[in-house]
Amino acid sequence: MPIYRGQMFVKWVFENQHKFQAVRKCSSSLRYKEVEESATQTQPEHVAPPADATSPAPDTHPQITPEISFKYDDLQVTLAAPYQLQPKPDVSDLGFGKYFTDHMLRIHYHKDLGGWQKPEITPFENLNLHPAAKALHYAVQLFEGLKAYRGVDDKIRLFRPDLNMERMNLAAQRSGLPTFDGDELVKCMSRLIQIDQEWVPHSETSTLYIRPTLIGTEPTFGIMAPDSALLFIILSPVSTYYKTTDDGAVSIYADPNVVRAFPGGVGNRKVGSNYGPTIETTARAAKMGHHQVLWLFGPDHEITEVGAMNIFCVYINDAGDKQLSTPPLNGLILPGVTRRSILELASQWEDLTVKEEVLTMNRIIELNNKGRLLEMFGAGTAVLISPISRVGYLDHDIRIPTMKQSQPVFQRVKDTLLAIQYGHIDHPYATVIS
Ligand code: COI
Repeated sequence: MPIYRGQMFVKWVFENQHKFQAVRKCSSSLRYKEVEESATQTQPEHVAPPADATSPAPDTHPQITPEISFKYDDLQVTLAAPYQLQPKPDVSDLGFGKYFTDHMLRIHYHKDLGGWQKPEITPFENLNLHPAAKALHYAVQLFEGLKAYRGVDDKIRLFRPDLNMERMNLAAQRSGLPTFDGDELVKCMSRLIQIDQEWVPHSETSTLYIRPTLIGTEPTFGIMAPDSALLFIILSPVSTYYKTTDDGAVSIYADPNVVRAFPGGVGNRKVGSNYGPTIETTARAAKMGHHQVLWLFGPDHEITEVGAMNIFCVYINDAGDKQLSTPPLNGLILPGVTRRSILELASQWEDLTVKEEVLTMNRIIELNNKGRLLEMFGAGTAVLISPISRVGYLDHDIRIPTMKQSQPVFQRVKDTLLAIQYGHIDHPYATVIS
């Protein structure tokens, strides 16, 4: 009889051996249990509001519960050892996003451990990702782009980082990623830049590009909000982004058969899936001798964006006034920080009417034929202002007199923004961080 019981026990162990490992795992995670419990007692579950799929979403404010965010006060810093420091490239060789600084910021999110973990600054290194991470399969990710400028006074400034944080949280909500308190991330980011401050170019034609990124890391195939995520920031000293013609302008190609965004989609969110699928069309445009794609939408061929930039036109309106126009934020347009700043600044200039309005290709052609279209330009963080001198569209080769204006609006806008960014003038858009 005892032998029989022993055999039964061995059989039971054999069949249930997987449970022993679970017990071990469970006991090692007990120390996090307290955190989780206190987190659920004091912090309401953060639920992203349902996305309105039927109407072109207005750009709303993100729903943030700041008390469940990570905190700058918890930031832990591990500095790179001297042998890990990279040589700094020559400013003339920077290009865009080729070089990276010595440190990075990372903040893990684990729902099971109470949500956001402590922010860490560490030496720059590769990420270790499970091959099933949702970011790799379903584009559960988002990114941002802003810059740190070394001013004429040698102080380092950020340009309206709060707007990037707001946009980041809106994109996070749309993809089921965790939201956070943007002020806390700006403080962590500023510390990272202070640590790598010698990487902020000593030049007014170059900057330090800041790339905050949030990815869903949960390694499961379900298309649902990830239980784990990683927010990281990397920094890259950069100069120009786009190639141009000799006079600094770009030629753009408008193909009405492709769209970048559609109503109810995510054209108004900075998610990677808005950018990867533009590569083939851009390459086709390049083969035809153009630098960028002018993205059209709808039966009337509305102009929406150009390349990865917002688009602006300057023309003489029906009242005979000079007007600066850009398409409205109707869900198809990325709410660019540069776009918004241009609209706010230019609306204070008395010699210019400023308007957000739908502009179709027919209207562009009509204005151009009548000699009333003066300028077209793209605007974005990476490039700042990119004048446009030519548009290829169906069988039209439209020449835009942007570079022929004696006092172009694009140049005035550019000079004003640069003066703020590089500290030539004090302005509330710029925040000194170091
Ligand atoms: C930016 O202006 O920051 C951009 O969006 C360009 C980037 C996608 C390279």
